[in-house]
Amino acid sequence: MSVRFPDGFRLERLAKAHPRKAFTSGQADVDDWLKTKALQNQEKHLSITKVLLDESGVIAGYYTLATGQVDFGDLPADVAKKLPRRMLPVAVLAWFGVSADRQGQGLGKLLLAQALRDCFDAGQTFAFIAVILDCIDDASKAFYQHYDFAELPGHPYRVFLSAAQLEAMMGS
Ligand SMILES: CC(C)(COP(=O)(O)OP(=O)(O)OC[C@H]1O[C@@H](n2cnc3c(N)ncnc32)[C@H](O)[C@@H]1OP(=O)(O)O)[C@@H](O)C(=O)NCCC(=O)NCCS
Repeated sequence: MSVRFPDGFRLERLAKAHPRKAFTSGQADVDDWLKTKALQNQEKHLSITKVLLDESGVIAGYYTLATGQVDFGDLPADVAKKLPRRMLPVAVLAWFGVSADRQGQGLGKLLLAQALRDCFDAGQTFAFIAVILDCIDDASKAFYQHYDFAELPGHPYRVFLSAAQLEAMMGS
């Protein structure tokens, strides 16, 4: 099941024809990733980027998903219990942004919901123990904490949502 975006918006996998050079979120790293690296990384099968397009084809927001690993020892005890003591598979929300002129209108919430839906769907085929991401600053960390992401002990800007939390979210 997909997230319903407002009328006129559509989500597409990033392609060369999308006007990615014009995207501005207010965060230079987030913009630079989309402008110069997202497509190249997608072509190398390192990550997948999806863009939210408005009615005129302008990019209103995007997210990039990848896979990764987290060390058992980095997990909080309640998540780690019963897991093997080794590197463990995770889904990574690698990049995420909403166009500056579209922020504060609920698109970030919908895009995050769709990114987590993609993770959940992928998790039915390729298992992972959590969705993790590195926050770019305190404001973005507050955004993710608003959606129940928790800090990884010892990594103040790395936050995670356990697979169990994700399942509970998607089930409700
Ligand atoms: C963070 C970002 C994605 C939020 O997108 P947005 O479209 O403005 O967010 P929304 O309007 O959908 O807000 C959704 C909810 O999050 C809350 N929220 C938004 N920004 C927040 C913040 N910095 N801290 C806490 N909560 C925040 C809103 O109050 C809203 O809450 P509600 O649903 O309970 O009313 C956007 O500001 C952005 O792209 N910032 C620059 C790039 C960036 O920081 N990317 C993330 C790091 S990779």
